[in-house]
Amino acid sequence: MDKLDVLSRRRFLEQTFAWSAIATLSPASFFNAGAQASTPNPASAHMFMLGDWGTDRYKPQQVSVSQSMNQWMDSRHVQPGALVMLGDNWYGKMHDQHGVERWREQFENMYPANRFPGPAYAVLGNHDYEKLKVDKVQMQLDYPKQHRTRWTMPARWYTFNFPEQNPVAKFICLDSNLPGTKPFDPWPWSYLMSQEDRDAQDVWFKAELSKPRTVPFLIVIAHHPLYTNGVHRDNPILIPRWGPMLKEAKVDFYITGHDHDLQHLEFQDHPTSFVISGGGGAELVDWSVDPKKRGPFGGRTLGFSHLELSKDLAILRHIGLGGQELHSFSKTPDGKMSILLAG
Ligand SMILES: [Fe+2]
Repeated sequence: MDKLDVLSRRRFLEQTFAWSAIATLSPASFFNAGAQASTPNPASAHMFMLGDWGTDRYKPQQVSVSQSMNQWMDSRHVQPGALVMLGDNWYGKMHDQHGVERWREQFENMYPANRFPGPAYAVLGNHDYEKLKVDKVQMQLDYPKQHRTRWTMPARWYTFNFPEQNPVAKFICLDSNLPGTKPFDPWPWSYLMSQEDRDAQDVWFKAELSKPRTVPFLIVIAHHPLYTNGVHRDNPILIPRWGPMLKEAKVDFYITGHDHDLQHLEFQDHPTSFVISGGGGAELVDWSVDPKKRGPFGGRTLGFSHLELSKDLAILRHIGLGGQELHSFSKTPDGKMSILLAG
């Protein structure tokens, strides 16, 4: 065990005393795979995830995250088979009817196909629900019909399996812009989905969750967290609506953006690991809850997340600027969670 591992263990153990969660889990089980933390397995499938990236005011920060993705890939010899764009894909105006210039600069060239040749699966955030002349929701649905692109958003809610060949995970992609969700930016051009669409999505979501599992891991992605230590706070609409559904179906991960940071939260008697990866480029903001009180991890930093998947193991890594691994943990198909790097 090297010095960093010792320090990380100590910090992690200090944190555990402050947690209100995971009281029933055995701390000894958190460290059983530490040596694997920084060594992605080339035989596994890999994807990178990032939220809150399509900023109109902080483009140099978006560039820094893109560079960090490349640095991590090069240093760890990782080739992601897909990107997952966790919403707030487009902040502000698109400048022309279809936003061609911004698509080219901030998506196609920012995450170039020669480095990221796989599909870029996307969900919608609150900034995508702004009507600033262009309907940015419809624009994102239409973009793949009009361009040869990796952008993948066949509907506002949809599923995909990953990898496409011999899949080990099913992803359920949701639109979390539910009516009643408190708009953080109460601008007149912001709007939310209709009650009819909310109910239709939930019928569909329940049906997807009730299907027999054919792959080891079940992962839900959306833009809004249920639980967060960030400035947006826990979501009183989503917690009672989706929380019991995630629990009953034993969803392995619920992964979102929205808060501009990197987080990992676990809760007693809840099988789902809650992950926030909103460090794609937009401005950093303060905590509403000290992350030491509700862990295992909170990083107020730009960055992205790397999900490694095999039939026996899923590893989620939070990666900061410079391609530095900040926190990582694994889950087995039977739901056992282990911290690999406490951070
Ligand atoms: Fe957001």
